[in-house]
Amino acid sequence: MTRASSMFDLISDQDEDRPYFETGGIGRSHEFYTGEEQFRREMSRIYGRRWLPVDHVSRLKEKGAYSTLNIGSGSILLIHGDNGIQGYHNYCRHRGYKLVEEATGKRQSLVCLYHCWVYDRNGKLKSLNGTYMDHFFDKEKNGLLPVRTEVRFGVVFVALSDDAPDLDESLGEFGAFAEVYDLADLECVEAKDYPVASNWKLVAHNVNESLHFPTAHKDLHRITDFDDAGTYDLEGDIVGAWQSIRTGYNSVSMSGRSPRTPMPNVPEGDLQKINWITILPNLLFGFTADYVMMQWVWPESPGTCFVRHFWLFHPTETAKSDFSHEDVFALWDKANYEDWEMCERTHRGLSNPLWVPGQLSYDEEVMAQIDAWVARETAEGAEAGAEGGAGTPDAPAAEPAGASADSEAAAAEDGGKAAGPGKAER
Ligand code: FES
Ligand SMILES: [Fe+2]
Repeated sequence: MTRASSMFDLISDQDEDRPYFETGGIGRSHEFYTGEEQFRREMSRIYGRRWLPVDHVSRLKEKGAYSTLNIGSGSILLIHGDNGIQGYHNYCRHRGYKLVEEATGKRQSLVCLYHCWVYDRNGKLKSLNGTYMDHFFDKEKNGLLPVRTEVRFGVVFVALSDDAPDLDESLGEFGAFAEVYDLADLECVEAKDYPVASNWKLVAHNVNESLHFPTAHKDLHRITDFDDAGTYDLEGDIVGAWQSIRTGYNSVSMSGRSPRTPMPNVPEGDLQKINWITILPNLLFGFTADYVMMQWVWPESPGTCFVRHFWLFHPTETAKSDFSHEDVFALWDKANYEDWEMCERTHRGLSNPLWVPGQLSYDEEVMAQIDAWVARETAEGAEAGAEGGAGTPDAPAAEPAGASADSEAAAAEDGGKAAGPGKAER
C-alpha cells in the first residue's frame, strides 16, 4: 500500500498568517480558571449542551457490555443492546438510586439494589420485584431514560440536550486523522482514571503543550523533541499540533523502541511524529504510528477534575502472542503523575485573586485556542436559550451578569487585534 507523504496533504491548506492567539498571547483571569460562575456556564453551555466524546467502541463490543461515566453531577450508562450502543441516564426510574457504579462490565440485566427493579440491556423495565405495583403501573413508561448517542470513527458521543450543534460539522477535519490511524478498528487494551485537584482547563493546557517536557518528563524528553513541533490550523471544533520522535527511536515508550509494525495508512512523514489532536472541549488524542492514546479531562468542580486515559493498539498487533503494552503504559502512567502535580500546583498558584495573567509563547498556541473557544462558548449572550436543556448537568435557569466572564468574552471578541503573525510550524 502506498502511504500519503504527510498529514499536511490530507487536511486543508494551513493559514500561516493567522492571528497570534485570540488574546494577543496573554493568559486569562483568575476567575476564568477558578470561578464558580465560569464553571457553571461551562457545565451548562458546553458539557450540558454539546455532543461529548465519551468512550471507544472496542470497550463495548459484545451485547451487554457497558461502561459508566460521571459528567458533572450526573452519570451516564452506555450499554450495547440489541440495536447497538445506547446511552442512558444512570439512575433507577423508581427512586433515583444510581444504577451502576462500576466503570465497565458486562450484564444482560441491570438490577437496582434498592428495591430490585430489573432492566434489560435495551433499558426496558422487565420486573418490579418487591414493589407490588403491577396493578396500576405501566412498565413501558418506566424504562431507563435514553441519552442521544452517536458513533463516529469508533468514538461514542452523547448529547445531554436536544439542541447540540451538528456533530459532523463540529468534528471538521478530525476524520482525516481518525482514518489514517484506523481509529474505529483499534483495541483499547488499558484504561485508567486519575483524580486531579485542578481546574479542568489547566489539565487541557498541560496535555496540549510540550514546552514542559525538558523540566517535567525526562523519559518523554529523551524520545520526543519539544523543539521540532508545530501547530495545525484545523477546521471544526478541534485543535491540534505535531511533534517529532527523535532519530533512533520508533515508539513513544519507556525504551523508545517497539517491535510493532507501523499502522498501514499512516503517512510516511508522520511515522516519526505524534499528532496531538483535541476534540473540544476535552478529549486529546495522541496519534502515533504504533498506538493511539485517548485522554479526557472531565470537570467535577472549579478546582477538581478527573482524567480518563485509554491506550489503543492495532488488532493485528494485539492478536500476537507476545503482544505487550507495558513499555508504553509505563512511560505515560509516570508522565501522567508528573503532569497532575504541575496542574495542581498551577491551580494553587493562580487561585490567588491577585493572579495577573502571563505572556504565552508561540509554542502555547493550542492552549490559547482552547481558552478562546471556551470563552466564546461561555460568553454573555452566546447561544441565548442554550441553558436548561434536557439533562443539563448543572443549569440553574437564571443568568446573572458575571463581570469576570464578560471580560473573557471581550477578550474573545478582540481576537487577534493586538497580535503578531502565527505560524503553522515552529
Ligand atoms: S430505587 Fe431502584 S428499585 Fe427502588
Ligand atoms: Fe506533560
